[in-house]
Amino acid sequence: MRDKVIVFDTTLRDGEQSPGASLNIFEKLEIAKQLEKLNVDVIEAGFPVSSPAQFEAVKRIAGEIGVRIAALSRTKEIDIKTAYEAIQNADKKRIHTFSSTSDYHILGKFKSDRYGKSLEEKRQTVIRMSYDMVQYAKTFCDDIEFSAEDAGRTDIGYLAEVIEAAIEAGATTVNIPDTTGYTMPSEFGKIIAELRRRVKNIENIIISVHCHDDLGLAVANSLAGVENGARQVECTINGIGERAGNASLEELVMALKVRKDLYNLSTNITTKEIYNTSRMVSAFTGVIVQPNKAIVGENAFAHESGIHQDGMLKNRETYEIITPETVGVQKTKIVLGRHSGKHGLKARLQELGYELTDKELQKVYELFIDLADKKKEVFDEDLRVLMGDEIKKEQGYYELVYINVNSGTNSIPTATVTIKGDDTEYSDSATGDGSVDALFNAIDRALNIQPKIESYQVRSVTSGRKALGEVIVRIRQEHQSFNGRGVSTDVIEASGKAYIQAINQQEIFKAELTMFHNEDSFSEVT
Ligand code: KIV
Ligand code: ZN
Repeated sequence: MRDKVIVFDTTLRDGEQSPGASLNIFEKLEIAKQLEKLNVDVIEAGFPVSSPAQFEAVKRIAGEIGVRIAALSRTKEIDIKTAYEAIQNADKKRIHTFSSTSDYHILGKFKSDRYGKSLEEKRQTVIRMSYDMVQYAKTFCDDIEFSAEDAGRTDIGYLAEVIEAAIEAGATTVNIPDTTGYTMPSEFGKIIAELRRRVKNIENIIISVHCHDDLGLAVANSLAGVENGARQVECTINGIGERAGNASLEELVMALKVRKDLYNLSTNITTKEIYNTSRMVSAFTGVIVQPNKAIVGENAFAHESGIHQDGMLKNRETYEIITPETVGVQKTKIVLGRHSGKHGLKARLQELGYELTDKELQKVYELFIDLADKKKEVFDEDLRVLMGDEIKKEQGYYELVYINVNSGTNSIPTATVTIKGDDTEYSDSATGDGSVDALFNAIDRALNIQPKIESYQVRSVTSGRKALGEVIVRIRQEHQSFNGRGVSTDVIEASGKAYIQAINQQEIFKAELTMFHNEDSFSEVT
């Protein structure tokens, strides 16, 4: 059996399904370039049939990135054909097609009688569709992955039948998702072992695992899968993803590395790129990494208690199983200032994983100079948030061009704003419970909208009075959330920018829906 575990990164597909975490094409490309540096084996770049923007992003990534590119599709001809069209220019390509296999999903998604009247008939339809669509996908490319959605809650006998059919039809990787994060590690491990016992020819193909974190067990379950013979892990940076997220790439990779004595397996990952990748994904998605997150959290290498600090000084191994350098956490802080110049800025940004065109660099440089004037010392964390902030702006429908907020101990907070749209300017004023509330109310009035604010977070990016304040706002419209992020040395301005950015994300989403109103073909099987 192979001693390498294939790392299949789905940050740009399942990760992007994280509430509020939508990414624009530029951000997806930057992340894909960074994933290439991280040396992942496969990048799942998106679900091309789901929207024109998804299609375009997958196509751009396929055209520019040397890593194997996978595109997701349901077991439908239109999905498969569209997935192939999006990845056809990739050096190495994979079509990833999936069908639901648990009774919950079959009864929920294949309701119509045209799929069969009884559960048994519907189950047979799923097998037939899976077989036919893997065969169809095979007419476009050799590398085909088949996933049995909700495999974790699927009857093992039936799961074995579906997987065997997919292999017979030509699947080269079969993926076993614990879609709802329901299974325990011992159970999940048994599913993999049992499939290897029951399914004909499974030894000749790659078994993959794709675990969700609803019970906090995604990494443990993936490792149980690997212990039982899986040789591909599907994961995301920072563990972001649908609901509680997916298995975290950095945790899986470091578990396999640190415990090589136990698993005797390795990955191709360049672990020194882990921290940069984590921070880039956080900056672009607006999903903050919790401080106590394993491997990449702010506190992952902090030793607080006297006993621990003393032990560390005597011998690092007393309390440290991974050195920060292994995952790219720098011990010394690099500081840039106004005099670092454009070249200095470019070099530092490259070290942080950002590859910019001259035009983009010029834009970021202007912001950098502005920031350096305000706060003298510019740290890596400042640059990362500057990048996240600046890049989101590219797709703005609205831009906040003027803010005036008045508040004081005995006065009612009042805000006035001007927002630039395509060819129109919108201005209005409003009061509120506090300065931020007044500002948001003024924006709502100017644009005649009233989004529900789901969360509002503010943090200081570095320390000191002149530190950048970073604000993340999440708004909700019907079933969809949108994150916005704003950065400024003034938190009121940062709040306004974040709110406008969340509104922009919502506008982009609405525009896409109108362009691609394909609900009929979608509702039944997603
Ligand atoms: O969680 C899941 O089942 C998925 C599949 C589409 C692989 O994301
Ligand atoms: Zn998933």
